[in-house]
Amino acid sequence: MPTFRTLDEADLAGKRVLVRVDLNVPMDEGRVTDDTRIQAILPTIRAITEKGGKAILLSHFGRPKGRDASQSLAPVAAAVGERLGAPVAFAGDCIGSDAEAAVSTLAPGAVLVLENTRFHAGEEKNAADFVQQLAALGDIYVNDAFSAAHRAHASTEGLAHKLPAFAGRSMQKELEALAKALEAPQRPVLAVVGGAKVSSKLELLGNLTAKVDILVIGGGMANTFLAAKGVKVGKSLCEHDLADTARQIIATAASHGCEIVLPVDAVVTKTFAAHAEHRVVPVDQVAEDEMILDAGPATVALVKEKLKGAKTVVWNGPFGAFELPPFDAATVAVAKAVAEATKAGVLLSVAGGGDTVAALNHAGAAGDFSYVSTAGGAFLEWLEGKQLPGVEALRR
Ligand code: 3PG
Ligand code: MG
Repeated sequence: MPTFRTLDEADLAGKRVLVRVDLNVPMDEGRVTDDTRIQAILPTIRAITEKGGKAILLSHFGRPKGRDASQSLAPVAAAVGERLGAPVAFAGDCIGSDAEAAVSTLAPGAVLVLENTRFHAGEEKNAADFVQQLAALGDIYVNDAFSAAHRAHASTEGLAHKLPAFAGRSMQKELEALAKALEAPQRPVLAVVGGAKVSSKLELLGNLTAKVDILVIGGGMANTFLAAKGVKVGKSLCEHDLADTARQIIATAASHGCEIVLPVDAVVTKTFAAHAEHRVVPVDQVAEDEMILDAGPATVALVKEKLKGAKTVVWNGPFGAFELPPFDAATVAVAKAVAEATKAGVLLSVAGGGDTVAALNHAGAAGDFSYVSTAGGAFLEWLEGKQLPGVEALRR
């Protein structure tokens, strides 16, 4: 029996189903520019409507302080309707008479989006009276917003205690993939962690050294580790004040039998710009006026070698300045290698985090990973080993 109740166990026919989704999608001039999160919730909406349930979608959008027309979910509701290929109603508030009226007119199988939950202070405070007002609109609660599950808000956490609660399809898929990647993985597990700063990923690195067999560190944060080992990194992004911390992480990893892999060569330049003049050097040959913007080909070969033995890969963060070609080369090459091994059926690969998904999409590799999380912050907190309130509240 799974730890969570899923939609398969829910009695949906004729029920008012409050579904927490994450419609916090990127928009430009009223248009959705990336509909990944909308696509992700369609199976849940369909599962509810096909059984004659009334799907009432709840979501935050942005970080408004009170009601703010520029942060309305109305245009997103329209985009949901387009993707779903069915009418989607919209109510101008998520509680009170507007919401109640909209809910009361819903026929079985209909879909309604309620206005931004963060227009009410009670949402982020998880205030009992606000939870109660939301709960009055539904018979059961479904959470399909893993990417907001690190927030203990009324619609992500409070409601799960007020109504019979179930994990939606996307939440279920996400939890199953994450469990396979880190809770009960096939070993060896190799983690790729990149990105700019060690300081923003301290807890994550700490947790991973205890759980994975090989930890590949890339991106700007690798420079901090190299510098801590006495390597001169020139003008590279580097948190010199974290040298002790980096050495501690290396020591902790050793005590857990986790092998840390750092870049052995680097692509260096004097100018932070796309197509800037550059050269490839061993990491100990970076000149004083140069900065590292990518890992070099020897590093890529080394990581590919490590990948050969791995059964599971967890990926967060790029290797280099992937948005500035040609400094995307290491990220692209390693991402492709992971994608190929996954396609060949010898590797389970899970990736997540905002930048990461952009980097893997850029590499054309995201589609071949076993699972790419829709989450940014929630994925990071999960990698840190933290309990996510929205997930915990769903446990049986
Ligand atoms: C996200 O976009 O990461 C989620 O929707 C959570 O948004 P938040 O960081 O504003 O809580
Ligand atoms: Mg966020």
